[in-house]
Amino acid sequence: MTQTEVNPTAHDSGNRATDKFKNESVKSDTSKERANAIYKDLLAAIAEVAQKHEVTYDEYRVLKNWMIQIGEYGEWPLWLDVFVEHEIEKINYNRKGYTGTKGSIEGPYYLENAPELPAECEMPMREQDKAAQPLFFKGQVTDVDGNGLGGATVELWHADEDGYYSQFAPGIPEWNLRGTIVTDEEGRYNIKTLQPAPYQIPADGPTGWFIESYGGHPWRPAHMHLKVKSPGYREITTQLYFQGGDWTDNDVATAVKPELILDPQTDGEGNNIVNYSFALDKED
Ligand code: DHB
Ligand code: FE
Repeated sequence: MTQTEVNPTAHDSGNRATDKFKNESVKSDTSKERANAIYKDLLAAIAEVAQKHEVTYDEYRVLKNWMIQIGEYGEWPLWLDVFVEHEIEKINYNRKGYTGTKGSIEGPYYLENAPELPAECEMPMREQDKAAQPLFFKGQVTDVDGNGLGGATVELWHADEDGYYSQFAPGIPEWNLRGTIVTDEEGRYNIKTLQPAPYQIPADGPTGWFIESYGGHPWRPAHMHLKVKSPGYREITTQLYFQGGDWTDNDVATAVKPELILDPQTDGEGNNIVNYSFALDKED
């Protein structure tokens, strides 16, 4: 573990994730009929679970209290992206006929407009990050027929060795381990970064109490987040994981897919090297 100046808390990252999300413009053109159908089914599902388990008044009050607290701690983005987002992602991005690279959840820590970097680059990192094992990540952005897409962008963001994301924990430079890589004419990239570590979702607030209450664990496997874009093609939001890593087969966020697991090889100098390419479907 490297030394961080301050110990971030669930309160910090929760509130920052909430502030970020609150400032995004969110809207949906859901009709009244559809809203009515969804809300009726949702209440029916809640009723069914309550009946099945004969939920007590104490349990109901604990739930009410927990929901108030999760709001006050700003942890709704954390809790929802861990426990719900994977299902929404599965419904919306695995449509019939798509043959490109698989998506995965975005999670709460994406930021737009990370600084642009050339196709061959090193991710912005501090001296202390350089103590981690270097990871060379190279590949190509193509269409589904394998034609390179020059000028495509690969937005990459991931946690440092201690599991913290820049701008969501104190004391980390603004764009640390975040970048928008622009591919060369053939769609290729070659990025030097560091080997991410398994990530513990903030466990000292209501999301942590929730996990404790059912005897679960708060861990996600080591991962890198990516958004890959090229005009005329369907944007991919995904994550990449590491073969054999802790929690790769037991992710609290249920967001691992076999196609997204990397198997880097270590060279003579202790660098991890991996090739992974992205295939983009045409826009609908
Ligand atoms: C959370 C954090 C992540 O890094 C991620 O990829 C998904 C969820 C979270 O803390 O909620
Ligand atoms: Fe993450």
